[in-house]
Amino acid sequence: MALRTTWWLLAILVCGIAANALIQAFSPASRGDLVLDMLAYSSVGSLLHFLAGATVILAGILQFNQTLRKRHLHWHRLIGRVYVFGVALGGVAGLYMAFNASGGLVARVGFAMLALCWLFATGRAFLEIRAGNVAAHRAWMMRSYALTLAALTLRLYIPLFLIAGVSFEAAYPVIAWLCWVPNILLVEWLLLASAPKTLASQ
Ligand code: HEM
Repeated sequence: MALRTTWWLLAILVCGIAANALIQAFSPASRGDLVLDMLAYSSVGSLLHFLAGATVILAGILQFNQTLRKRHLHWHRLIGRVYVFGVALGGVAGLYMAFNASGGLVARVGFAMLALCWLFATGRAFLEIRAGNVAAHRAWMMRSYALTLAALTLRLYIPLFLIAGVSFEAAYPVIAWLCWVPNILLVEWLLLASAPKTLASQ
């Protein structure tokens, strides 16, 4: 029950993040300075990033729906391929965009590390399932999606820092790391906490 509620809550937030990315891609009137600066640096990189980002964050949440996974395995496989392909495109675009990110060197390194970890975790998850290792595939996909959710946590932290009176310039380099490092630590903790159960059921 708690799992289902968490999934729905996350799904609603994820739809908001995907909608924002699509609005940035298709509605020039909605773009703020940050996005205009991104587009001036690389319009192809930015648009690819917004479109692939929206696709993977939506595809990923569906993959964690138990009903879909258990009853419609062919959909899980198809959406999984879309996710992996989307991360490959969005990750390379994200890495490229990281070199021009606001917030100076600390933020740029933070975003570049996020992109590299995202590509690695997703590639590894794909290779594990090709090799038939379901448990390892699940663990690496959890890591991958925790990194995808950096797009959500980043947009939650920014207003929180502003409300706390921290300027955007001071907050952004910190948030470039805070948006993903705790996410991955949380997944590691969840994996460790569920390890005894997984071993017992084998
Ligand atoms: C997880 C790996 C990701 C990396 C490494 C990454 C990297 C970046 C970078 C470097 C920027 C530019 C920031 C700046 O110029 O200051 C950016 C902006 C943006 N990204 Fe990502 N991103 C990731 C995931 C996503 C996802 C999954 C989405 C969509 C759901 C997304 C949507 C956007 C949008 C809409 C912007 C424009 C700025 C804004 O609206 O806040 N990103 N991203």
